[in-house]
Amino acid sequence: MREPMKQEPKIGATPPVIIVGAGHAGVAVAAGLRARGWEGGILLLDAEKETPYERPPLSKELLKDGAPDESAVLRKEKFYQDKGIDRLPGVTADSIDRQNRRVLLSNGSQPAYHRLVIATGSRARPLTVPGAGLPGVQSLRTRADALELKRLLVRGTRVAIIGAGYIGLEVAAAAAARDCQVTVLEFQDRVMSRVTSAPVSRHFERLHGQHGVRFVFGAAVTAIEGDGRAERVITADGTVFHADVVLAGIGVMPNQELAADAGLECRDGILVDGDGRTSDPAVYAAGDVTRFTSPTDGASQRLECIQNALAQADRVAAHITGQDAAAPEIPWFWTVQHGVRLQTAGVRHPDDDVIVRGDPATGKFSVVYLRDGRLAAADTIANLADFRPARKLIAQGTRIDPTLAADPGIPLTNAILNDPTPADPTPADAALAAARI
Ligand code: APR
Repeated sequence: MREPMKQEPKIGATPPVIIVGAGHAGVAVAAGLRARGWEGGILLLDAEKETPYERPPLSKELLKDGAPDESAVLRKEKFYQDKGIDRLPGVTADSIDRQNRRVLLSNGSQPAYHRLVIATGSRARPLTVPGAGLPGVQSLRTRADALELKRLLVRGTRVAIIGAGYIGLEVAAAAAARDCQVTVLEFQDRVMSRVTSAPVSRHFERLHGQHGVRFVFGAAVTAIEGDGRAERVITADGTVFHADVVLAGIGVMPNQELAADAGLECRDGILVDGDGRTSDPAVYAAGDVTRFTSPTDGASQRLECIQNALAQADRVAAHITGQDAAAPEIPWFWTVQHGVRLQTAGVRHPDDDVIVRGDPATGKFSVVYLRDGRLAAADTIANLADFRPARKLIAQGTRIDPTLAADPGIPLTNAILNDPTPADPTPADAALAAARI
């Protein structure tokens, strides 16, 4: 236990903590600071003008026919007022003067900071082919993007989706439900190849197929053409796909420029330690924009998930206030497509052993991933019963009997293999111990 924070900061006496970005991570840092007793100022910079909101519904509920245009807010306006969190909507940080601990803001002011937290998140990777700037070519990251897309998804519209990741597939499901004609063009040979294994991909491909979604794999888009707006998508083999709307869902990029320009170490993400500290001890970062060493397996990773944003935010708030943070958690992710929920615990590696639990034809099954015999990750498909035990076993680095794990009638917790060398730390224990130093 570290020394608790001395009551040094008093409003006015010490500069505020400045948080750049009001997504899940930034808002959680602000809330966490107050919850942990920070009495100084908190300045929350928000590039967007509206009350900070939840992002997951943007590609799901919000696109539904007749759904209200509002998506859930992270915290009500009153929360920011009650907690003395000074939120500046529509104001961005343009540069950081680390030497004088000041931030230059888009409104011309240059407030000083006690600690700076960069929670700038990620942005949609832009499509760079000729014609990508034509009206009718959309990406989906903000509420404004979602509302524009919703406006375009009218019955009978031909929708070409580039990228079969979470975003592309969730939009494909929403568009199909609105009776659009949907074609998904994916570079790889299956859907969600970044995040899951072939059995799960095949299941979701079948599911989309049943709802009329068409897939083209191995598709490299080379141009978008049209007379004043997108009308055609052209792929490398010369195929022409007619489309009224084109959605690019080809991944995200960390908004790390502010940090990189200030000389903070970045490598596809701002590098942070287990407490969210960057290479400057007065500057922290949290959420999608960070890269860090996994406490469970020692891998360098950038996680695009709310669970990570919230956990890192708590660690930052804890460190700033000199308190202990909760133990690291196993990250988890989810998507819902055509009403079917895929929920993932842990981060799978492409060379993990893949064990299917149950029959995908029933619509309900899990896939567990073993690394060196230990449970490393799990996908549950309409099968949340496996999710909680899987997370626990992954956290413990538990060795699993592959034959027992393949039997859906046997609870995962009954598929544990006794460790021959229980005294030896698991790789997860060792990485966890190292991360705590
Ligand atoms: N042409 C076709 N497909 C492409 C191209 C391209 N030029 N570039 C990338 N892809 C494919 C990838 O192969 C991958 O299958 O796009 C897909 C992108 O999937 P994700 O990386 O999952 O990205 P995305 O779906 O955009 O989701 C980004 O948003 O839902 C949130 O945080 C969540 O991580 C998620 C993020």
